[in-house]
Amino acid sequence: LTTSSERAFSSQSPQETREIGAELGRLLKGGETLLITGDLGAGKTVFIGGVARGLKIADPDSVHSPSYTLVNRYDGPIPLRHIDAYFMRSAEDLELCGYEDALFLGEAVAIEWADRIPDLSPAKAIRVHLSLAGLEQRKISIANWPA
Ligand SMILES: Nc1ncnc2c1ncn2[C@@H]1O[C@H](COP(=O)(O)OP(=O)(O)OP(=O)(O)O)[C@@H](O)[C@H]1O
Ligand SMILES: [Mg+2]
Repeated sequence: LTTSSERAFSSQSPQETREIGAELGRLLKGGETLLITGDLGAGKTVFIGGVARGLKIADPDSVHSPSYTLVNRYDGPIPLRHIDAYFMRSAEDLELCGYEDALFLGEAVAIEWADRIPDLSPAKAIRVHLSLAGLEQRKISIANWPA
């Protein structure tokens, strides 16, 4: 049996969203899949930039949307694979980004627009949902917050 926990945050700025991401990143051990959802501009990429910081990625400021490349990989003690699933339709599409290999290699994987892939339910899934709550206000809920 696994214990699951859900945590809810309210963020007032991009910096705060990044700090919440960093808090999560510091708890990762590699092999996790972060399923990141939320509307356009909700802060998915900003949050993942924070995760990169928490993971001690060498250059966390270089985190940007993999809109054209579909996948970015950032080097660090635990590397981060950052995937944009906006145009994906099935888990098979993820393989084009080396998803299973990344998990096998012990990387952390963050998938933006994970809800575009209905048949995706990885073993070590952490669900992150961001929603707009004002100009600079966001609600962030994280399910299966790691122990
Ligand atoms: N509290 C906040 N948290 C995160 N971003 C915020 C916040 N307040 C304002 N913003 C702004 O909202 C935008 C979020 O952009 P970001 O690229 O992270 O969104 P996204 O969810 O990845 O969008 P997309 O769907 O286009 O990939 C940034 O311009 C950021 O400065
Ligand atoms: Mg984005």
